[in-house]
Amino acid sequence: MKTVITYGTFDLFHIGHLRLLERAKALAEGGRLIVAISTDTFNWEAKHKRANIPYADRAAIVGALKCVDCVIPEESWGQKAEDVRKYGVDIFVMGGDWEGKFDFLKPLCEVVYLPRTEGVSSTQIREGLHP
Ligand code: CTP
Repeated sequence: MKTVITYGTFDLFHIGHLRLLERAKALAEGGRLIVAISTDTFNWEAKHKRANIPYADRAAIVGALKCVDCVIPEESWGQKAEDVRKYGVDIFVMGGDWEGKFDFLKPLCEVVYLPRTEGVSSTQIREGLHP
């Protein structure tokens, strides 16, 4: 049983998000999945992106999923190492769009990049491009 953590905005929740979270939970082998959800302030100030759905609602939606055990806020780029220590994380998971970006955590835990689901993203949905 392992503790897995992943991070994201999860705006306009879609099938790519669900698949990522289900695969992350499977890596826990019966353990827990923690999801850190970007707050509205972090999204705007650090990522220069505005989510359509407010943080409280995104956190409620993700937290209600069977595969998710716990939701925490993502408020800074720098919190990851501290979260890994605080929650005793065994595996840090991100989608393949982040490949290599979090390898600096490898001394602390396993770092896994999962392939993204093709053909869907929050941006595509926002722009009316997703069928
Ligand atoms: N993700 C995925 N497959 C997709 C879209 C997202 O596996 N088609 C994963 C991302 O790689 C990330 C997590 O879901 O690990 C949360 O992604 P997020 O950035 O919130 O979703 P996107 O749809 O990529 O949002 P945006 O278009 O705003 O970048």
